Amino acid sequence: MDKQINILAIESSCDETAAAVVRDGREVLSNVISSQIALHTLYGGVVPEIASRKHIEKINQVIEEALSEAGMKLQDMDAIAVTYGPGLVGALLVGVSAAKAISFASGIPLVGVHHIEGHISANYIENKDLEPPFVCLVVSGGHSHLVVVKDYGEYEIVGRTRDDAAGEAFDKVARAIGLGYPGGPKIDKLAKEGNPDAIPFPRAKVDTNEYDFSFSGLKSAVLNYLNGCQMKGEEVVAADVAASFQKAVIDVLVDHSIHAVKEFGFDKFAIAGGVASNSSLRAAFEERCHKEGIKFYHPSPIYCTDNAAMIGTAGYYEFLKGTRSDLDLNAVPNLKLGER
Ligand code: KG4
Ligand code: ZN
Repeated sequence: MDKQINILAIESSCDETAAAVVRDGREVLSNVISSQIALHTLYGGVVPEIASRKHIEKINQVIEEALSEAGMKLQDMDAIAVTYGPGLVGALLVGVSAAKAISFASGIPLVGVHHIEGHISANYIENKDLEPPFVCLVVSGGHSHLVVVKDYGEYEIVGRTRDDAAGEAFDKVARAIGLGYPGGPKIDKLAKEGNPDAIPFPRAKVDTNEYDFSFSGLKSAVLNYLNGCQMKGEEVVAADVAASFQKAVIDVLVDHSIHAVKEFGFDKFAIAGGVASNSSLRAAFEERCHKEGIKFYHPSPIYCTDNAAMIGTAGYYEFLKGTRSDLDLNAVPNLKLGER
């Protein structure tokens, strides 16, 4: 049997300090996540400066825990994979600096990983049969991309948001109806008690690209609705607002994605990113893919939101392709998918 490849992966692009050990790309030996959510909740969103400081406090401990939970030593690692963009520059720098220091001290090769490539690759962890090509919808706090995954590490973005990311819209609407940060999981929960057809919020189309998204109009429509209720002295049923808003987002994501899968002639479709853990979104894709004869893949919620296991998986396929990063690897806050 070929030698096994063990990867130590590090992720610190936003508000989770995370490290994992992944074997041969799809076997997660450990997946340690230190979340800062409780801290940022006090401020209603991620405060970049606080995120960087917390990452510095936690990073060594998280890396040690990942190795010990996997029952392995640093010397057992074949590569160190680290997210180097996109994300918050100060946050990214903590992970990148730690990975470079470990690589320099140990001589273990360094592999810089794109955060979105990580999210997409999260699908490989539990779906052992999934191989490219397929179409993947990446919906997170910072991104809404419809991506054709041509091969491992080879991507074509066919649709993107023109304004807010889907997760950003969830977070802003949650704040407006008084749910606090992070909005996605809170809207997900509250929407179960509401009527998704109660308020006819708009489903935006972008004229110049049928696969692009726009969520800022929807966000404004929700704010206008809330203001209107206030001015008329009408009571707001928050659960109905949450359910109707969520349905408007899901309708657009499902329609555009399924249209792309069919137009580009694929029979496999995957979702990724924090918003992909939304229960109604998953149910809607499940139903539509079943109807259309498309095989639907999704990671478990723990691999949808930010984690290092997905970076280890993406790093494994980059490692196999021969990708190696030098010690001048830097954090690139606006790194484009497919660029190095
Ligand atoms: O992928 P992620 O952890 O971080 C980024 O790379 O941005 O995504 C975080 C985003 C947040 O906007 C959060 O509100 C959203 O994912 N999210 C959800 C759910 N869980 C997290 N949105 C909708 N429903 C959820 N259950
Ligand atoms: Zn992310």
